[in-house]
Amino acid sequence: MQIAFFNTKRYEKQPFEYANREAGHHFHWIDLPLRADTAVLAKECEAVCVFVNDQVDAAAIAQLQQAGVRLVATRSAGYNHIDVPAAHAAGLTVVRVPAYSPYAVAEHTIALMLSLNRHVHRAYSRVRDGNFSLDGLLGFDMHGKTVGLIGLGKIGACTARILLGMGCRVIGYDPFSTVDGVTPATLPELLAESDIVSLHCPLTAETRHLIDAASIAGMKRGAMLINTSRGALVDTLAVIEALKSGQLGWLGIDVYEEEGELFFSDLSETVIQDDVFSRLLTFPNVLVTGHQAFFTAEALAAIATVTVRNVSEYEKTGTCSNAIV
Ligand code: NAI
Repeated sequence: MQIAFFNTKRYEKQPFEYANREAGHHFHWIDLPLRADTAVLAKECEAVCVFVNDQVDAAAIAQLQQAGVRLVATRSAGYNHIDVPAAHAAGLTVVRVPAYSPYAVAEHTIALMLSLNRHVHRAYSRVRDGNFSLDGLLGFDMHGKTVGLIGLGKIGACTARILLGMGCRVIGYDPFSTVDGVTPATLPELLAESDIVSLHCPLTAETRHLIDAASIAGMKRGAMLINTSRGALVDTLAVIEALKSGQLGWLGIDVYEEEGELFFSDLSETVIQDDVFSRLLTFPNVLVTGHQAFFTAEALAAIATVTVRNVSEYEKTGTCSNAIV
C-alpha cells in the first residue's frame, strides 16, 4: 500500500523500514505535519501515517477523502488529535497502536518524579559549574509516600508496580479499572491524600482540564503533579498560579496543552512566542520534557511493527483489529 508518512523524523525511518521488510508497503516520507493545507501531499496514497501533533481535524479529513485516502494509521496509542467521527463519516478507517511499551512511559514518569524530588536537573548544571553546595537540593524519601494515579490502564498499572516496589502507598482513581496493590479512591480522596498525583487517563471531553484551580485546591499543599499523558488534562494557567502560591510544590510534565507548536522541533534559534510555556520554564521546581516518554528503542520498534501490521491487515481484509470504532 502507498502510505503518506507525515511528520517524519530521522529516527523513525530505520525502524519503519525494518518492520516493513516483508510487508512491502511504500512509504512516502513527508517532513511536514498533516494539516488541512498539507493533506494534498497524500495524493495517490491510500493511507496516511500520522503522529500526535498532526491535526487530523474535519478540514484535513475532507482533503484526505478528496485525495483518495481510505486509512488513517496513527503511530500512537492516544488519538485525540484525530476527529474520529468526521473520519468515519467520510468513510475513512482509523487505526492505532493500542500498546507498544507501557514500560517506556511508566519509567519516564518515575524519572520525572525522582529528578524533581532529588533536583537532578539542577544538580547537573551546578556540579558542572564547580558548585558542590547542597543548599536547595533537599529531597524526600519516596518510601512511605502516597502516590495517587488517575487512570489505571496499561501505563497506570505499570507505574503502580514500580512505585509499589519502591515502598510507596499507591491509590488510584479509575472508573473502569483496578490494579492489585492499588487502593481505589474517589477523585477528591485521591487529590486530598496524595503527596504525588500522576495522570494516566486519556484526554476526552470529560477529562479536559481535570486538573484545574478547583482540583488543585483539593490537593495537599506542596504536592507534586506529574503529567505524562496529555497536556490538556491540565489547566496550565491554574497550575502556574498554584506554583506561585506554593499550593503546588512540584510539576513534572512531558506533555503540554499547546505543544503542537513547540514539541518535536528544534526551536533553539527562535524566540518562543508562547508566554505561558515560557513562564513554566522559569520555575526551579518545574521539569519539562518534550513528549519523549514513549521514546525508547523498544517502543519505537513496537510502534513500527504494529503500524505496518495494521496497514497490512486493512489491505487484506478491509478492516483492522486495532481500528477505533
Ligand atoms: P489505557 O487505555 O490502557 O488506560 C487508560 C485508563 O484511563 C483506562 O483504565 C480508563 O479506564 C481510564 N480512564 C478513562 N477515563 C478516566 C477518567 N475520567 N478518570 C480516570 N481514569 C479514566 O491507556 P494507556 O496505554 O495506559 O495510556 C494512557 C495515556 O497515556 C494515553 O491516553 C495517552 O494519552 C498517554 N500516553 C502518553 C505517551 C507519552 O509519550 N507521553 C505515550 C503513550 C501514551
